[in-house]
Amino acid sequence: MVKYSTLKKKLKIEVERGADNGLAHLTHYFQNHQNGVSQHYSKSAIEYLSHRSEELHLVKEPQMQQLLPIKFDVPFPPPAEYDFTFLDLFAGIGGFRIPMQELKGKCVFTSEFNYQAQRTYEYNFGEAPFGDITALDLDIVPKHDVLTAGFPCQPFSISGKMKGFEDTRGTLIYNVFQIIEKRQPKVVFLENVKHLIHHDKGNTLKTIIKDLEELDYKVSWKLLNAADFGVPQNRERIIILGHKDKKFDFTKLKTKPKLIIKDILDKNVKFEYLDEPYTILPDYRVQESGLIFIGHRNKSIRKAGVRPGTEHLSRVHKQPNRIYSSEGIHPALPSQESSGRFWILDEGKVRKLTINECYKIMGFPENFIKNTSLGDSYRQIGNSVCVPMIKEITEQIKAQLL
Ligand SMILES: C[S@@+](CC[C@H](N)C(=O)[O-])C[C@H]1O[C@@H](n2cnc3c(N)ncnc32)[C@H](O)[C@@H]1O
Repeated sequence: MVKYSTLKKKLKIEVERGADNGLAHLTHYFQNHQNGVSQHYSKSAIEYLSHRSEELHLVKEPQMQQLLPIKFDVPFPPPAEYDFTFLDLFAGIGGFRIPMQELKGKCVFTSEFNYQAQRTYEYNFGEAPFGDITALDLDIVPKHDVLTAGFPCQPFSISGKMKGFEDTRGTLIYNVFQIIEKRQPKVVFLENVKHLIHHDKGNTLKTIIKDLEELDYKVSWKLLNAADFGVPQNRERIIILGHKDKKFDFTKLKTKPKLIIKDILDKNVKFEYLDEPYTILPDYRVQESGLIFIGHRNKSIRKAGVRPGTEHLSRVHKQPNRIYSSEGIHPALPSQESSGRFWILDEGKVRKLTINECYKIMGFPENFIKNTSLGDSYRQIGNSVCVPMIKEITEQIKAQLL
């Protein structure tokens, strides 16, 4: 059986910046040859290979078949047997895919348009995502059981239009609704930031729910916190679940005992200590969320609405200047902090969280291959989902809805 890495070298295939979806077609073809889904990808996969290689100049499907099966020597190969199929939309670096594969889910289609995220994804799963979802030919999207999407939140308002999901035309959720309408998955699994609840005075969330109901789904949603699922991070995310017949029961989710930052820290590695002036507060308190804001870099503080003598409050300080105690939990990792200025006080010293610790705080497995650019690695993990939380929700989707 040929190894994926060998084939990649032989065929000289790699994710390329600004390329069309050729590699996505080919890798989706390779990963779906046994489940009847590869027909969606075979024509363009053949075209792609013919353009790449003299040797495979007139490649035909039977020759492609000879390449199969492939041994996927990547950290997260497709499962040999599976219980359900899913789509990974706005896939990022695969925060949904890792736990869903672990629970015997088979990804049959993925889309992500950021070049660096596509590279990371392909290193880990042996499959290149399709690009821009707004430019997709929907015919290539196969039927599936669960549609997952951690879509970017954009403004839209229900007021006055009342045209069903057409209300959202021009936004990314509209493209998701189009796929749902065409392929009618059993389950729709959406994830977004907490702010979606209040976005446009609650109209954005209301519109999403109304549109899913018009597409014949029973919808339920809840704000969940990653800290309840076995990672020391206060990361609140809204989860929206739709099913054709029943509502998802969030009360069945099993939570885990709370961890603190100290529980996941690296040992015996070189740390980046803070070598500029900072202040450790003489008094601090454990916040309700479990965070312990314990100090700050001595940088200028926020001016708007700040009273004198409030330096002990985290909100007075810009995010990259805050220092948190390793005895508490960590605030949500943002995607904008590409130099990883997440400062912690541990063993009496102030240091940055390592990139490895950032991935652990999101519950990523140790064998996950990070992007070779450190800045992109930080951006990608800050954009992602917390793996154990998605895993617990998926367990319950399997138990309740599939
Ligand atoms: C919030 S992130 C989701 C991250 C993902 N859940 C993960 O586990 O890493 C949203 C992603 O949508 C991607 N995206 C935004 N617009 C897109 C589009 N038009 N087509 C495809 N992907 C898009 C972004 O590049 C980003 O990676």
